[in-house]
Amino acid sequence: MKAISVFPGKLNSVHLAELPKPSINEIPNGRGVLVRVVRVGVDGTDKEINAAEYGAAPPGYDFLVIGHEGFGQVEAVGENVTELKPGDYVVATVRRPGNSIYDLIGTDDMTTDDTYYERGINLRHGYLTEHYVDDAEFIIKIPQGLRSVGVLLEPLTVVEKGIHQAYEIQRRLKVWQPRRAAVMGAGTIGLLATLVLRLRGIEVTSFARNPKRSLNAELMESIGARYTEVPIIEAGKKFGPFDLIFEATGNSSVVFDSMQALGKNGVLVLSSVTGGDRMVQVPADRINLEFVLGNKVMVGTVNANREYLETGVRDMAQAEAEYPGWLSRLLTDPVRGLENYTELFQKLKNPNGSIKVFCEVAEV
Ligand code: BGC
Ligand code: ZN
Repeated sequence: MKAISVFPGKLNSVHLAELPKPSINEIPNGRGVLVRVVRVGVDGTDKEINAAEYGAAPPGYDFLVIGHEGFGQVEAVGENVTELKPGDYVVATVRRPGNSIYDLIGTDDMTTDDTYYERGINLRHGYLTEHYVDDAEFIIKIPQGLRSVGVLLEPLTVVEKGIHQAYEIQRRLKVWQPRRAAVMGAGTIGLLATLVLRLRGIEVTSFARNPKRSLNAELMESIGARYTEVPIIEAGKKFGPFDLIFEATGNSSVVFDSMQALGKNGVLVLSSVTGGDRMVQVPADRINLEFVLGNKVMVGTVNANREYLETGVRDMAQAEAEYPGWLSRLLTDPVRGLENYTELFQKLKNPNGSIKVFCEVAEV
């Protein structure tokens, strides 16, 4: 079977590798699930892996099968799998457990191990192939009615976890009723963060560099968010102060601007994976002073355990009910067939108005 792969650490090494079709017997205790891959999204992480800035091959391999935003259909299940059956649509989580206490209780996204395992990213093969197997533990069922947007679940979980963490942290306040939020970035994650916050009734200002006339801007405004190109420090004075800021630009300098627009008792959620080595100068005393005097919090968030996929499925259903057709408008750039990996990466590198670039591996 074909698989889109890279040689980690080698620049622009994306290529097609050949692997044997996996079998459910590779998974112990009759808990194996064999999945036929249908669609796989690609994102900045894949770009960084192909740019040799990130990622590692599994032990025993010199290549890594990429793709972590999977969506597929169950082909076969082991004898002890009762929660899934052939024909079900599914998405698998990305992280796999290590050894820390957090891994042992099903929260491998919170691991304190130095080494972490992520399918399609770090030390485990991913989903840009024809079939994969995994333990039912890591596989979430997608209702039939959401199959056309199921490929958006993994990026949505980035948002679900970040926002859930924000609410958990804010339990420190005896009462927290966030009214105003800011979302930094209008890519897939920024759009989905705006959606989830709007579904919770929060007023959202979304910040981006894209012009006002872009599809991204229109999508933000169609769910009642304010879209602006004005820098956050300035706009914060007009539309803030923000109770919650979700940072998803992929640009670490935006973090320090965002810190300056956060309201008292506010929480700033960081989700950008920045593999580079950017340096910035910041008004450190002022930022620190306002954080101290305003009891502010900043938290990093990395994906994701099963709980967030389950919440994501519920939010997708609510989104389809409240804003029908909105999610599928994010699926701007399909690329048909694993063999067209060059086109897949070209679209990823030159977005030109695209939101989600994804590979159509097989028919939905
Ligand atoms: C993925 C996450 C992953 C993170 C760090 C992101 O692109 O969507 O699942 O945890 O990269 O590797
Ligand atoms: Zn990702």
